[in-house]
Amino acid sequence: MSRIVLGVAGGIAAYKACELLRRLTESAHEVTVVPTENALAFVGEATWAALSGRPVHTQVFEAVHEVPHVRIGQHADLVVVAPATADLLARAASGRADDLLTNVLLTAHCPVLMAPAMHTEMWLHAATQANVALLRSRGVLVMDPADGRLTGADSGPGRLPEASDIAAVCVSLLDDAATVDAVRTRDLAGRHVVVSAGGTHEALDPVRFLGNASSGLQGIALARAASLRGARVTLVAANVTQPLPSGCTVVPVVSTGDLAEAMLALQPDADAIVMAAAPADFTPAEVSAGKIKKDGDAGLELRLRQTTDVLATLSARRPRAQVIVGFAAETAADDTELMALGRAKLARKGCDLLVLNNVSGGAVFGRPDNSVAVIDARGTVASAQGDKAVIAHRIWDAVVASGLKENP
Ligand code: CTP
Repeated sequence: MSRIVLGVAGGIAAYKACELLRRLTESAHEVTVVPTENALAFVGEATWAALSGRPVHTQVFEAVHEVPHVRIGQHADLVVVAPATADLLARAASGRADDLLTNVLLTAHCPVLMAPAMHTEMWLHAATQANVALLRSRGVLVMDPADGRLTGADSGPGRLPEASDIAAVCVSLLDDAATVDAVRTRDLAGRHVVVSAGGTHEALDPVRFLGNASSGLQGIALARAASLRGARVTLVAANVTQPLPSGCTVVPVVSTGDLAEAMLALQPDADAIVMAAAPADFTPAEVSAGKIKKDGDAGLELRLRQTTDVLATLSARRPRAQVIVGFAAETAADDTELMALGRAKLARKGCDLLVLNNVSGGAVFGRPDNSVAVIDARGTVASAQGDKAVIAHRIWDAVVASGLKENP
């Protein structure tokens, strides 16, 4: 069980931290909530205490005999501040210790994650940006806020990322020094990465389609991980119904044809492309203009034609410095057969790296965890198992190691 401190600053998005708290406690973490005095104006102490099952303090003069201003920070495995307001970022950047939360921030040895939320003007203000840059230079992990509707009628960057998003980031940082390091150094800063996710739908008629079981979770985890490591991320999402990560540009697509068009248009501007989507290999040769009707007891024969192999097309056209990653979901009897299938597919597709997983029994789709090997033409370069967030980071490690750094 990991010990997480959830710091909550005084912004309207404090109510969303309740959902984050639930997610963290439901995944068996011990969470101590440290709200600021102003946070309690939005969500009361009773809510935090009930949801966390633990006492809640905001000031250093409460429960003084337990020395909470030092103990809470020192014993944490992760401190996450959500929402981190402009004022909290400013106080943290200047090393203030004027309430319990800022004391915790000064005494924590563990990774500290900030999820900012504020009005767009406040986020874009030079003072806030300088505070964020200073905090990042000191190793604090600061997420980019989401872009969208703010309190009131206006919209722009400044929304708190979704609770699911922040919770997924927390999971990827716990007990994972390699990921914390990659996020701290922002090893994908200045890079544009394009990730495809989800499963395509191939229309049969105006109401029916041929589809597949891909949930898009691994592609979403890849996009979120790259964004956290500083990349500019475009997520090409095929029929994804899962919550999408903040800070990414999303291009929605439906069919393999749409996906091919979107990916080929994005290719010239990309440093790396990861094809985590499951595009249909076949599409109906004709799409019926009207709804296909039953004809007595007769069955229905469909004529299908092959779609574009997007990965092979991208690989054939890739500029010299671009790294292209494919996925191979295979049903193999054992690791030897899996590796043989993977090597053959890597060669056939012409990509740099292939993420191999065994989907015998459909065990992977829609689940939060997975087990993969990353291979290149010489053999296995990485293997990972566990949460898809962790796997996403190991894939980016492999992309960085494959030469992305040397080829700006
Ligand atoms: N892929 C693609 N375009 C397609 C089909 C697949 O870009 N029309 C990509 C997938 O996104 C994945 C990789 O190719 O990254 C491998 O997908 P897979 O379905 O395993 O490959 P197939 O070419 O369909 O191979 P198989 O003959 O084994 O079905």
